Amino acid sequence: MAVNSISHQAEEIRVEGLTKAFGDHRVLTGVDLEVRRGEMLAVVGGSGCGKTVLLNHILGRLEPDAGRVRVADHDLEGAPLVDLSALDTMETDRLHTHWGMVFQKNALFSGTVLDNIALWLSEVRGLDEDAIVPIARRVLAAVDLPDSDEFMQTDVNELSGGMAKRLAVARALAMEPEVLFYDEPTTGLDPTTAATVHDLIARTHDAQTRTGERRTTLIITHDKDLLRRLEPRTVMLHEGRVFFDGPFRDFEASASPIIRPYFDLMPVLHGRAFDPRDLTPPGHEG
Ligand SMILES: Nc1ncnc2c1ncn2[C@@H]1O[C@H](COP(=O)(O)OP(=O)(O)O)[C@@H](O)[C@H]1O
Ligand SMILES: [Mg+2]
Repeated sequence: MAVNSISHQAEEIRVEGLTKAFGDHRVLTGVDLEVRRGEMLAVVGGSGCGKTVLLNHILGRLEPDAGRVRVADHDLEGAPLVDLSALDTMETDRLHTHWGMVFQKNALFSGTVLDNIALWLSEVRGLDEDAIVPIARRVLAAVDLPDSDEFMQTDVNELSGGMAKRLAVARALAMEPEVLFYDEPTTGLDPTTAATVHDLIARTHDAQTRTGERRTTLIITHDKDLLRRLEPRTVMLHEGRVFFDGPFRDFEASASPIIRPYFDLMPVLHGRAFDPRDLTPPGHEG
């Protein structure tokens, strides 16, 4: 299907005046954000500034105190924006089938590699194992993991941090999402493994979706190398609002007394932990 210019301009997510407090702790004080379809967007900002809280509102897991979140409904013609607050749980679950999520701590289920890829495909899509195994092989290969039966039967507890991360991306890809959300996808990975995840995020973003649309990617991160490699539109949250919104190059070059100290602190926040299993040469991990 041809990708027309109208769909490029279409909005995927619109956040308006989003306000959220937990008790007397005001976390978001009026976030406005518009994400267009096919865009890659990074959300940055100090620890505890509300990045994950913002994401959880976009995913419909938290309800705003004020303001609203609208997201594209890919089951409707032209995928118009729908207000999350107007949807019931079933409709929210339906929207989720078009989204893929890769969380900070992977959130893999206990069990095998195949169990992890299969769960959503069987629960949400109603597919049986005969249908799931070829999909599993395809998405494992797409993230440079072995696609052998042996690897699919590996317990996820035996995977290194880098392999677990790639499996989390493979699991998200299996659902052929229109939108991919990553929450600190490279935190705790060594630089070499992180670089493979950067490439994976780029490749996954550029691959066309099932409907022939461009995929939308939203990444929460403190990873400067990721930002330099992918050069996404960069949005910085500060004191509960969007403080900066523009190209990464402008963010990097900014002399702002708010941005400069954060920029210098990013490697510390990124806090790379080292997992020696990630040093295994690619292709020898299974
Ligand atoms: N469910 C919750 N209940 C109470 N406080 C929360 C909850 N979720 C997040 N917070 C608080 O909101 C702030 C922002 O959290 P978060 O969005 O996770 O930060 P980050 O920008 O590091 O992702 C933190 O101070 C956190 O403790
Ligand atoms: Mg967070």
